[in-house]
Amino acid sequence: MPAAEPTSSTDSKNERIAALVRDTVGAAPVHANRYRSTWAGLLTDEAVGQTPRVAGWVHRRRDHGGLIFVDLRDRSGLLQVVFDPATCGADVFQAAERIRPEHVISAEGELTLRGPEHVNPKMLTGTVELRATSLDVLAEAETPPFPVDEDGPVDELLRLQHRVIDLRREHTRDALLLRSRIVRAIRDAMEDEGFLDIETPYLTRSTPEGARDFLVPSRLQAGSFYALPQSPQLFKQLFMVAGLDRYYQVVRCFRDEDLRADRQPEFTQLDAELSFVDEDDVIAIFERVMARAFVAGGLDLPRPAWERMPYDEAVLRYGNDRPDRRFGLEIQELSEALSTTEFKVFAGTLSSGGVVRGINAGGLTVPRKQLDELTDIAKKAGAGGLVWGFVEPDGSWRSPIAKFLTPEEIEAIKTTLSASPGDLLLIVADKAPVAANVLGVLRLELADRFDLREDRNDVLWIVDFPMFEGTAGDGTNLGGGRWDAVHHPFTQPCAPGGAPVSAEDLAPGGAFNDDETTPGDLHSRAYDLVVNGWEVGGGSIRVNRPDQQRAILDLLGFSAEEADEQFGFLLDALKAGAPPHGGIAFGVDRLAALCAGRDSLRDVIAFPKTSSGGDPLTGAPAPVDTKQLGDLGLRSTIAPPQG
Ligand code: AMO
Repeated sequence: MPAAEPTSSTDSKNERIAALVRDTVGAAPVHANRYRSTWAGLLTDEAVGQTPRVAGWVHRRRDHGGLIFVDLRDRSGLLQVVFDPATCGADVFQAAERIRPEHVISAEGELTLRGPEHVNPKMLTGTVELRATSLDVLAEAETPPFPVDEDGPVDELLRLQHRVIDLRREHTRDALLLRSRIVRAIRDAMEDEGFLDIETPYLTRSTPEGARDFLVPSRLQAGSFYALPQSPQLFKQLFMVAGLDRYYQVVRCFRDEDLRADRQPEFTQLDAELSFVDEDDVIAIFERVMARAFVAGGLDLPRPAWERMPYDEAVLRYGNDRPDRRFGLEIQELSEALSTTEFKVFAGTLSSGGVVRGINAGGLTVPRKQLDELTDIAKKAGAGGLVWGFVEPDGSWRSPIAKFLTPEEIEAIKTTLSASPGDLLLIVADKAPVAANVLGVLRLELADRFDLREDRNDVLWIVDFPMFEGTAGDGTNLGGGRWDAVHHPFTQPCAPGGAPVSAEDLAPGGAFNDDETTPGDLHSRAYDLVVNGWEVGGGSIRVNRPDQQRAILDLLGFSAEEADEQFGFLLDALKAGAPPHGGIAFGVDRLAALCAGRDSLRDVIAFPKTSSGGDPLTGAPAPVDTKQLGDLGLRSTIAPPQG
């Protein structure tokens, strides 16, 4: 596993985070007691002359001819403690000689100014030191498996196995302190906006959020299972029907899906639901809340109102619905420019309803080997192949397909892609969803390889989503495909342009379910918030009529009996008089990672899972004994792993 560790280019970011974190630590005084009277890492010139007591870990210890210097560490930072036999006496000095890194100590003494030659500008407390008069060794420590006092790269598996030690390191600790600060800002904002913090169950029934469920076997009803919630979606809607308007929760969600850097199987949402609202209301309120979260997290974003981009535009220009706009390389439609081409690959795709799209990658130096790698990436993303061409100084193309295109076609492509000599053009011909995805993947790959992103943060809402997506490759439900909900089945559909649709419109033969117009043409009242190419939040205005909800479940392939069995409680609630309502959920781990400038959610979760879903600290998941399974009415058909 690669080590996710800071580089010198992240130093200033880390310093900025450290400053925010100190601000958080210093917001409340420590409760003074026999161990300590103050945080160690916050003592500055102002406290000179006082006699504080501090407690923490021995970060570093240096012996300097008769003097012992200890950098004492607590969560607020470091303080230099000096043991001088003339001040502390022989007994304390001897005790100080025996202490080692990571021992836990408490020390008291006078805070004094350091001599000018000993000032350490890198430490907040670098102008002062504590001249100890007493020392209590509260616990001893074995030598740690990797140094705590430096942030050098350490293998991530080792860090996760010894997470306690890792959490002591400044880089890891600061990320968690920053997260705490963001969550506090979120809670403050939510309370100020009048939301009620109400809990929902973790042992519950499955809700379809698109991933697999984690199941919990029931002992009292052997053979039956709870599902851990993928989100509290249905419960929060029930709150609205119950009249508990404006619900929120900072809540754990569980999804059994393949892990990526921006996904964890258990993660935290800021989850919310409101009654008597439209999209604009939800967006306005959550721009206020998120702006406060980003300020707390030190992420420099434009102030609201944030731009809104329709889903179709995002997919066309950037290849996906979470556009990273910090670099160009926008996708262009070339189908029209090539409508009369005789080049078989393009002509065949166009005549079967596909598209030809391309990007101008600019004047990059890309050797043949890298072009082959990009072609492999395109193929992995679903393309049959990738067309590349370099524009020569005379305007012609250096490309394996140049001879199949007329000069007019080459000219039309160059004009559409605003190409100049030296530019690399990448073109994909395929079904529209495939071409979009492939070019979207290539865009991001080029940005990574050539470091193309501008040093700024970007935020936008994606709106006007399709309601359903067909599982056939062309985005329909033809040829054995079916319809899936793009957001989830409780999102309110609408006609393109926003006009309401009724249950009858969705029923077979209805306005969106006949030969001409399919459910794939429906839009939905959903919205996502995207920051720096990450989807950080998503929500929608919900269905609040039982007949419409039934019609949607029917379109998704649930029989009436299945709908009643799985969602009867929701359908019943909707019959009890449901207000118009809507909501949203934000990924707290993603917000924290963005603010902390980390690529992986593992860096902002205290005890995260690895990409195989394991926790190297506790060894979870682990086999259980046959008796425990038997109590649950279960028998494993898989032999437990050896060793
Ligand atoms: P959605 O599924 O879009 O919506 O999730 C909302 C936000 O949760 C975060 N997220 C994740 N974070 C880390 N790891 C994961 N595996 C993961 N999955 C999702 C993302 C995402 O934007 N019930 C709806 C919300 C609603 O309609 O109100 C829901 O859960 O940041």
